[in-house]
Amino acid sequence: MGIGIVDGESPPDYNCEQCDPKSHKELLEAIDGGIKLWEDRRTLHGNWSNEKDTPQRLGKKTGKGDKEVKNSINENSIGDGEDVFAQEDVSTIYPLTDECHHYTSIRQVPWDIQKYWQQRHSIFSCYNMGIQMTDDAWFGVTPEPIANQIAKDLAAISDPSRTVIIDLFGGVGGNSIAFALSNRWVQVIAIEKDPSVIACGQHNAAIYGASEYITWINDDCFSYLASNSSSIDPSKTVVFASPPWGGPGYTSDEVFNLNTMYPYSLKTIHDPCRHMDSALYLPRTSDLRQLAKLPPAGKKVEVVQYCMEGASKALVAYIPAACLVS
Ligand SMILES: C[S@@+](CC[C@H](N)C(=O)[O-])C[C@H]1O[C@@H](n2cnc3c(N)ncnc32)[C@H](O)[C@@H]1O
Repeated sequence: MGIGIVDGESPPDYNCEQCDPKSHKELLEAIDGGIKLWEDRRTLHGNWSNEKDTPQRLGKKTGKGDKEVKNSINENSIGDGEDVFAQEDVSTIYPLTDECHHYTSIRQVPWDIQKYWQQRHSIFSCYNMGIQMTDDAWFGVTPEPIANQIAKDLAAISDPSRTVIIDLFGGVGGNSIAFALSNRWVQVIAIEKDPSVIACGQHNAAIYGASEYITWINDDCFSYLASNSSSIDPSKTVVFASPPWGGPGYTSDEVFNLNTMYPYSLKTIHDPCRHMDSALYLPRTSDLRQLAKLPPAGKKVEVVQYCMEGASKALVAYIPAACLVS
């Protein structure tokens, strides 16, 4: 039942369906005593729903130190009828833009992404909590089960001396969130050049309780690597890259030519990070002979196919670092 908003439509004594206001004894007594009971309940509910809905929280503070974390309700956090308490780090906040959407009905979804939207809960299990995407991001996001498996494999394969992971193409957070929640890395650095996409990524990380553990950098990843070469320690760092796969024949070629991958070829991506262990997320039909040429002499590249519902979605090439010649 609703109350009309037109003057004169409301009954003089509107009671909710269940009770009369006078029955709310505890509340009325609290008001008489100057206590705002509803504020305490709201806080309690906020804490409870955070614990209940957050898939996993890290048990430790990371290398970012004890930064202040503030809780806020963001109007863009409202999902399918649910409030989300977004946890925001006080480091740079990238605001959501008109390009960022949380579609709740297929009628809102552009036709070319409707098939991806139908799989939204496999892509982000917390979709209904207000996950934000740009329309282009649907084509490239790593689905959560695959991102989690990659995070697990990378954690297992990486030497314990590696404590920092740089996600070169952070996107809307599919992989970075999984790396943060794996509790393996002291620092997760997510680079994304598109301001709308990075805003979605940061927002989505907050939904998963991972924002405190990810440093978001709105930059071109190649410029970032070049300008931070003196502060990035290759012996402590692993690079993950899930580049765009555009270019001729991604879906139709029997063997995907990584040398003509657009806009960045395999060489363009691998060269600047060859002195660090790296993991490249690539089309499942990628030319393995091209990948086999990447590791330094005497070392091998490991290739893992990642499947969902029995079909490979992508492969990851795990490539050992080349030694730095001093
Ligand atoms: C395939 S998507 C990454 C998806 C991401 N792993 C996820 O799960 O959300 C590639 C992303 O790289 C970004 N990008 C493209 N070129 C870039 C560059 N030079 N530096 C940083 N980001 C870039 C695009 O804007 C896009 O969001």
